Amino acid sequence: MTPASMPSISLSSVPESFPGALALTVVEDKPWSGRLATLDEASGGAIRRAAEAGRFRGEKGKIQLVLGAGEGLPARIVLCGMGKESPSLLDLNRAGAQMLATVATSGDESLYILPHDANAATAALLVEGAAMRSYRFDGYRTRLKDEQRQSVTSIVGLCDNPSSAAADDNLAQAAGRLAGHYLARDLKHEPANVLHPMAFAERVRAELEPLGVEVTLIDEARMKKEGWGSLLGVGQGSIRDSVVVAMHWKGASGGVHKDPICFVGKGVCFDTGGISLKPAGGMEDMKWDMGGAAAVSGLMKTLATRKAKANVVGLIGLVENMPDGNAQRPGDIVTSLSGQTIQVLNTDAEGRLVLADVLWHAQEQYRPRFIVDLATLTGAMLVALGMEKAGLFSNDDELAAQIHDASEATGEYVWRMPLGEEYNKMLDSKEADMRNISAGRWGGSITAACFLERFIQKDQKWAHMDVAGVVWADKAKPMVGTGATGFAVRSLNKLVQDHYEG
Ligand code: BES
Ligand code: MN
Ligand code: ZN
Repeated sequence: MTPASMPSISLSSVPESFPGALALTVVEDKPWSGRLATLDEASGGAIRRAAEAGRFRGEKGKIQLVLGAGEGLPARIVLCGMGKESPSLLDLNRAGAQMLATVATSGDESLYILPHDANAATAALLVEGAAMRSYRFDGYRTRLKDEQRQSVTSIVGLCDNPSSAAADDNLAQAAGRLAGHYLARDLKHEPANVLHPMAFAERVRAELEPLGVEVTLIDEARMKKEGWGSLLGVGQGSIRDSVVVAMHWKGASGGVHKDPICFVGKGVCFDTGGISLKPAGGMEDMKWDMGGAAAVSGLMKTLATRKAKANVVGLIGLVENMPDGNAQRPGDIVTSLSGQTIQVLNTDAEGRLVLADVLWHAQEQYRPRFIVDLATLTGAMLVALGMEKAGLFSNDDELAAQIHDASEATGEYVWRMPLGEEYNKMLDSKEADMRNISAGRWGGSITAACFLERFIQKDQKWAHMDVAGVVWADKAKPMVGTGATGFAVRSLNKLVQDHYEG
């Protein structure tokens, strides 16, 4: 495995000179003052002239790169427009990301970031955004030339009180979010020949145990004994063993069984479709069919790194869906851990089969305050919401609202979708308790969610996020560029922080 290396991040007071690139925030149409004015003076007005030539007035989202501003000044100065209104936390993350993108491969090894208010909290958010955009999965690129590699390895936020307790905390919180975000992205990028179920489990163990997370594996032998027939059926055609990983973070008093909250992830390390084989074109994308499990693992890393005061259980079901002489066939009937029987009419609708057993186990074992599951569950989700928002399904309006708010604040957008009896009944089967695909053609994401709901016990608060469209970006996204997005680590961390700590 080839984990991406995280740039070093720090806060510091404003130095006399900058051995690297310097990025500054600029308020729209406000006369330049402070450090920016001093720099411009030192440049003999070169910075001002570059801004004018670039028609840069500090508009939100606009960037002006100033090269060679003058003797003794940084060779690369990045002006980053912040608009007129005071920026949100998300705006600051995004501005930092843009700054990094502008100089990532410039040759500079350090990026200094100076917010106009020289405030530590602002600086930390800019640094965080820059570090997010800095993610590169290029460990397998053995022939990359130096100039193609990212040169920036150190990101320094400049502010007035860099050694205050508040500044330390700002940086530590950002570092915690980054740690989990990076892990989730690494896991999604690793190819399926490397990251098979057991390798995933071992990676999670190696990442989380040193942070104080208790990690236990539920292996095939135990699952057979206990009756996880739905999950085991999916992994049956693979030479790789299926495994469920339980991660326990006991950050609040009373241990993990005291009011835990629970996150469940679909971890299909590769989804060929099984005997209901997928077409060849684009099948390689199905290496990230474990994006839900990656998000849960990353979230646990973030919570543990920042020592969240909450009891949290992460559960991921890791399998490989392969066609084989021993693979599950269309028409097979399996008995799930809940005792309900399922007629498997399409072996490519496997994510729900995995989650059915993991969700049931979560409830029986932990009686959680709520469960949020994450899954790259349906292609229909892409038809409905494209690659911009995840589908959110929930039996609880308050939980749904909390997730929605956290998602808006972090830019990991969700959109509420319906559940309902009229959809649910399309899963009825004449030969078993239910079928694993709907009898109708439409609303595939909704019927998939209804399938999961059949494994949710009475009064259990639950939300399901179908992240099929958002775990991977084909077109660059502002904070993460292309490739794995790390979706939901930051928003669910915020959910926990805002409502379930203390
Ligand atoms: N992992 C896929 C869903 C998916 C497809 C995610 C494309 C991301 C991009 C899932 O296991 C699947 O194959 N779902 C089927 C369900 C169908 C057989 C009812 C689908 O969406 O086609
Ligand atoms: Mn599938
Ligand atoms: Zn799948």
